[in-house]
Amino acid sequence: MTFTKERSLADRIRADFPILHQEVQGKPLVYLDNAATSQKPLAVLDALQNYYEKDNANVHRGAHTLSARATEAYEKTRDKVASFINAASRQEIVFTRNASEAINLVAYSWALNTLQPGDEILLTVMEHHSNFVPWQIIAQKTGAVLKHVGLTQTQEFDLEQFKGLISEKTKLVSVVHVSNTLGCINPVEAITQIAHQHGAKVLIDACQSIPHMPIDVQAIDCDWLVASGHKMCAPTGIGFLYGKLELLKAMPPFMGGGEMISEVYLDHFTYADLPHKFEAGTPAIGEAIALGAAVDYLTSIGMDKIHAYEEELTAYLFEQLRTIPNLTLYGPQPSTDGKGRAALASFNVEGLASSDVSTLLDHEGVAIRSGHHCTQPLHRILNVPGTARASLYFYNTKEEIDAFIVALTETINFFSGFMD
Ligand code: ALA
Repeated sequence: MTFTKERSLADRIRADFPILHQEVQGKPLVYLDNAATSQKPLAVLDALQNYYEKDNANVHRGAHTLSARATEAYEKTRDKVASFINAASRQEIVFTRNASEAINLVAYSWALNTLQPGDEILLTVMEHHSNFVPWQIIAQKTGAVLKHVGLTQTQEFDLEQFKGLISEKTKLVSVVHVSNTLGCINPVEAITQIAHQHGAKVLIDACQSIPHMPIDVQAIDCDWLVASGHKMCAPTGIGFLYGKLELLKAMPPFMGGGEMISEVYLDHFTYADLPHKFEAGTPAIGEAIALGAAVDYLTSIGMDKIHAYEEELTAYLFEQLRTIPNLTLYGPQPSTDGKGRAALASFNVEGLASSDVSTLLDHEGVAIRSGHHCTQPLHRILNVPGTARASLYFYNTKEEIDAFIVALTETINFFSGFMD
């Protein structure tokens, strides 16, 4: 009797990603830096090229065919994103350059105009710099106070500490959904429910969750959610803000310029309806259209399938990493079936700088990130200057994890030769 090996999700779709099929330093590329940015499938590359080859024109302006086509494709992406995250209305989706710009939009439009001295903003210690710095600026400007939820023993969000820190003084809870360093998946529905009981608004940084799992903003019930396109198969330069309709309606514009106005006089202006009042200037039209293609592509595979396959990879990755001596893993351990954490592993090898690990792995064709991953406060708490991080996506395979483990073992052996 012959058995045919069932093809994995990655085996079926890898041909869609031309960049993966190359050699780096004479070795087959093993791309494990997906938390920094994802690769782009042909459907996305084609959408970008097609726009510039056939439809390039400015949106919402021209009374000609190309402009109408560009506008239609650009606005269609808004519908696609709204449906992808189950927003109640397309007007709840505002295109931004990236997630950082989306957070700054909320900071400058809502927080700067709302917060009073003594009001509290509650963050976690595991935030990306983009979810620290805007609030630090707002706290300086308004007199608001920053508070931070710490980690449990298993290096996850400390829900009990959160319950103790939140109070009627808390006006905003801004929290990452999936940590780009620890890989923990934070309980955003519970966080939002508790925050709302205290009258606080909630912003979710979904950069590391949206590419990997189904997201339903109505189920989470968050007030705002931000994401960047480039981590979910779309180009750089396009991201979005989701906000509840009534809240976005009440928020003043963040930036002034073309596109966001209704009438302009010599000394004043009136602004456009949602979502255009937040989209000043010519937007990233081609990139937005390509984001629409990315959403179509991910949807055609199925976010539940992507998530399930990544759980399988996570289980395998951790199983293999645990075989390496003197290696410290950060964040919660996955269950044996890979559930309970994201498909990334931050680690350190005793005696080695994370940058040396990534440099040596690059010589073997393996791309991982090293350093602080834009989470310096968290690394201070972990008491390490940096970590090495392998982060996976649905096009990665178990064979690539094997190649990574072999290269890592060789790297460790190489350095141990000097340490003897
Ligand atoms: N925030 C991205 C990362 O984690 C860039 O690498």
